[in-house]
Amino acid sequence: MREYYPVLIVAAFISLTAIAFLIAFLFVKGKKEAFGFERNMRDSELIRRLFAYSKPYAKSFIIVFLLMLVSIAYDVVAPYMVGLVEEMIKEDFEMWRLLVYVAIYAGILVVSLTCTYLQSVILQKTGQKIISKIREDAFSHIEGLSHGQLSEIPVGKLVTRVSNDAESLSKMFTNVIVTLVKNSFVIVGVTVAMFLLNVELALLVMCFVPFIVFFTVLFRKFSRMAYRKEKESNTDINTFLSENLSGIKITQNFNRSDRKNEEFAVKSARHGKAMMNTIFVFSVFRPVVYMLYISTVLVLFFFGAKGYLDGATLFGNTVTSGVIVSFYMYISRFFDPIQNIAEQFNIMQSAFASAEKIFSVMDLAPTVTDTEGARELDEVRGEIEFKDVWFAYNDDNWVLKGVSFKVNAGETAAFVGATGSGKTTILALLCRNYDIQRGEILLDGENIKNYKISSLRKHFGQMLQDVVLFAGTVRSNITMHGDFTEEEIERACAYVNADKLIEKLPNGLDEEVRERSNNFSAGERQLLSFARMIIHKPEIMILDEATANIDTETEVLIQNSLEKLMKMGTMLIVAHRLSTIQHCDKIMVVYNGEIVEQGNHYELLKKKGKYFELYTIQHEKAKLIK
Ligand SMILES: Nc1ncnc2c1ncn2[C@@H]1O[C@H](COP(=O)(O)OP(=O)(O)OP(=O)(O)O)[C@@H](O)[C@H]1O
Ligand SMILES: [Mg+2]
Repeated sequence: MREYYPVLIVAAFISLTAIAFLIAFLFVKGKKEAFGFERNMRDSELIRRLFAYSKPYAKSFIIVFLLMLVSIAYDVVAPYMVGLVEEMIKEDFEMWRLLVYVAIYAGILVVSLTCTYLQSVILQKTGQKIISKIREDAFSHIEGLSHGQLSEIPVGKLVTRVSNDAESLSKMFTNVIVTLVKNSFVIVGVTVAMFLLNVELALLVMCFVPFIVFFTVLFRKFSRMAYRKEKESNTDINTFLSENLSGIKITQNFNRSDRKNEEFAVKSARHGKAMMNTIFVFSVFRPVVYMLYISTVLVLFFFGAKGYLDGATLFGNTVTSGVIVSFYMYISRFFDPIQNIAEQFNIMQSAFASAEKIFSVMDLAPTVTDTEGARELDEVRGEIEFKDVWFAYNDDNWVLKGVSFKVNAGETAAFVGATGSGKTTILALLCRNYDIQRGEILLDGENIKNYKISSLRKHFGQMLQDVVLFAGTVRSNITMHGDFTEEEIERACAYVNADKLIEKLPNGLDEEVRERSNNFSAGERQLLSFARMIIHKPEIMILDEATANIDTETEVLIQNSLEKLMKMGTMLIVAHRLSTIQHCDKIMVVYNGEIVEQGNHYELLKKKGKYFELYTIQHEKAKLIK
């Protein structure tokens, strides 16, 4: 019995470790948090959808597979060759034979390395192409979502989906699949080779397999939890950043930088901890597998040496020193792939989690879509009518309550009323940013739902309350990448009096617009967006508070261009300053989601109602200032 003590000690050690892990496994519970629209998908569904993306690259994958077979052959053959060399150098040997062996070994090694290199180059290329496609699809899908959906999902979350999650998927294509396939083949190959070489020793190695499986299963659970935490904290950081970097100037002005720093520090620390957690899980798993590996080697040496000394044979196999050396190498080639597979399996889990999140976004059906049989809209006169329109952003919180009005083609209508009364909302409904719950919106006498959304929007030019310029040049912001001649651009700029502003710029139309357009004043941005609007020659123009940010001098310019614009088509304006809209054909007074008065300036003044009140207040104020 005493002679087996070393083996018993090894067995006891492994068993104790296994028990410790089992206890940890039973006590740690993982939970999954999902955000509203995100749903759980079955692995088979994910695989099917990912497979669809990789299908166009089937050829590359086949080449990779063939290259892989070569490197697998190396893994299986190399230990055997080393064993042969060991056998040979024990006896008297001729130098040239050794050299031949070494040359063959080196040759196989070089071929295998070349194949591995080519394989990884092809894979990286293919993987990146697939991921780009997924990323593009995700982005264009997000672009098609309706305003309501977009305001519900934090921007940071969408950023994470398109960037980080797509990235974590890329590992799946570049690493995981190949490693899984390759390592599975290596394990099978090595197992077969070991059995061919010596059945007893091979069986001995197999005794350790259940332990490996056991530890791997536990590892999967822990690492999945760790990955999930890591992802959540990452999304959290992205959401926080995208929100706070946009508002950073406000934070600074309110001296809240310290508060924000603290908030960020907490999130950052949480992310750091989550990362550490992942590293910890791996740092436990790797030594455990290593321990199993060392134990197997020890047991191999123990029995191998005993067998060698006794000259034992079983099924006709004798244990030679060469066999022991080969086995020693096979064991490491047996354990490495197992560890790799376990780790890759986890990366795969993490990639699946990402895929699930990306596909959830892609599955979000846009709530505002073309109705069946929707037509293209070619010619537009520009007559607009709201018939008893009821609208709520959420459930039954009516923002518009039975709004009705009619604007004839070519007319200019103005909406006035208190903050939050629903003016912007009325305008947003016109080009179907949202769908109404009740009533009808007619364009040239036909429900706007009968037209394709994209063709409907083409006829609208909008200048919204907050002007957005994109990073690029003044030119690209005006043309929005449409095809316009230099002359057309200049004419548009001159028309809205933006030409003087552009002349002042050192690079003229090619002046850079920085991200968030902070190198332009609010008034300048408005002038540019005027130019952007009219160059597209819309039949219907929507101007929301278009003159809010402009000085008196520029206002005269704008007023002048507005009058010109009015001749271009139908125009709907929202303005707080009543002086700017006196000459409009129709003025609607919006109050609490309803149109309480409508008519032209003089009719409304005569009524002595809400409009009269507003007008007198502003008039008095103006007089006071004078
Ligand atoms: N995306 C949204 N989701 C939910 N509620 C909204 C949304 N946008 C606006 N609201 C609500 O709808 C109401 C009308 O808003 P709207 O923007 O139409 O007002 P407004 O008349 O344009 O005001 P202002 O003069 O300040 O621009 C407000 O009570 C506002 O809180
Ligand atoms: Mg508004």
